[in-house]
Amino acid sequence: MEPKPTDPTAPSASPVIRRDRVISRLFRTKSIKQILADADHPDHRLKKTLTAWDLTALGIGAIIGTGIFVLIGTAIVGDIHRPGAGPGIILSFVLSGLTCALAALCYAEFSTMIPVAGSAYTYSYATLGEFLAWITGWNLILEYGVACVAVAIGWSGYFNKLLRLAGIELPYWATHPPVGPDPGVANFPAAIIVLLVTIILVIGIKESARATGIIVCLKLAVILFFIAVGTPAVDTGNWTPFMPQGFAGVGAAAAIVFFAYIGFDAISTTAEEAKDPQRDLPIGIIASLGICTVLYIAVAAVLTGLIPVEQIDIHAPVADALSKVGFKWGAALVAIGAVAGITSVLVVMMLGQIRVFFAMSRDHLLSPWLSTVHPRYGTPHQATILTGVGVAILAALIPIGDAADMTNIGTLFAFVLVCIGVVVLRYTKPNQPRPFRLPFMPVVPILGMLACLGLMSFLPWLTWIRFGVWTAIGIVVYLGYGMSHSKLVAHSSEDHLSKRSR
Ligand code: ALA
Repeated sequence: MEPKPTDPTAPSASPVIRRDRVISRLFRTKSIKQILADADHPDHRLKKTLTAWDLTALGIGAIIGTGIFVLIGTAIVGDIHRPGAGPGIILSFVLSGLTCALAALCYAEFSTMIPVAGSAYTYSYATLGEFLAWITGWNLILEYGVACVAVAIGWSGYFNKLLRLAGIELPYWATHPPVGPDPGVANFPAAIIVLLVTIILVIGIKESARATGIIVCLKLAVILFFIAVGTPAVDTGNWTPFMPQGFAGVGAAAAIVFFAYIGFDAISTTAEEAKDPQRDLPIGIIASLGICTVLYIAVAAVLTGLIPVEQIDIHAPVADALSKVGFKWGAALVAIGAVAGITSVLVVMMLGQIRVFFAMSRDHLLSPWLSTVHPRYGTPHQATILTGVGVAILAALIPIGDAADMTNIGTLFAFVLVCIGVVVLRYTKPNQPRPFRLPFMPVVPILGMLACLGLMSFLPWLTWIRFGVWTAIGIVVYLGYGMSHSKLVAHSSEDHLSKRSR
């Protein structure tokens, strides 16, 4: 489709002028004043109900899930795409945790300065220009939408394990995707849990945050239980050799378990719904990430100390290790906690995806249909239903590893853009109020960017190819729709006309 002209009276002239016009569109930024004003429009305003506790609970709710309960197994043992870390997984968690801490500081500065829905997408729009904002939003679909796919599949694995412990065996075809060496028909439990969560989210954020709070407590209890019961049974001999496949294994594992940390930034996607975002957002982001890092390192140490690396299961490693050392009832408890815990991750990650759609649609880079708020529930119900149906279909049809790798590469790339954006905004808007200023500028964001690129380099080449294809599709969608429908086109046309009429 031919883009609408930014300036309706400009001569539709030479190719040079036209090229300059396109370039200026790609780099047009949205002013922070305009971002805050758009968020306050009555038709698109979200209810402000979330407290500091709600935000920290949302953070932990998003963080502890499939990564620590499921993917840790593959990270320790390795797979056909990469070597495993062995007990060196402890180091992998430290590396990934540090990377996220650096990015978290950048998120905290941004989210208090621009406390509206949309997270990294909104921050890029204010700093790096519309095109990179679009690319960021497009990658956030990997971070949240595709993460939901991996999370739902992980949920299904533990749910099946629980049913089995209760003596119920679902048919193989109904619990496996139609691809891979031993295909089934579809992963039905994964699709069904996504649809149930979708219904909860259409009804309202407060209800889901309250439910998340209860599940977060349960999940923390189960993790602490695993550490407490497992520690006395640790055989320190299992920690040698510490890095059986060298640093290559540790790095590859860090790139997988990065998934386990994703979610802290979901807090900033709900910024618009926070009662006191300036105070509560940094608390929520940094507290939830810190708590989870400490717990992960402890779980990794206990798990690799309990049984030798070659005995670690890749489907339900945490519960399985307990049963292998004789705590069968403990394994059942961990499985219950994992099912509940992974459910809460699904809720928060779905919320994140919906809010990113909502923000992009409010800017008309996606259809405005997606940012309509339900008159009674006050939720973006159309974006919610679209997200739910899309995630449910993918969760039924693709393997967990593919979904997790795509999530990680997209998220790491979005983090890189956030790290760059925070530096850009310090120089372009030095006087903008910053309730939270990240320390050691610009060292922290530069280190954050390098750390994210470093983790990306450990992901399999197939993931890189898929990421390239995904990005290319995103560019086509932007050129075909977003670039011409963007609200900034309308704003600049209105400005121009009002100037002319004066
Ligand atoms: N960090 C989240 C999980 O591990 C996405 O499930």
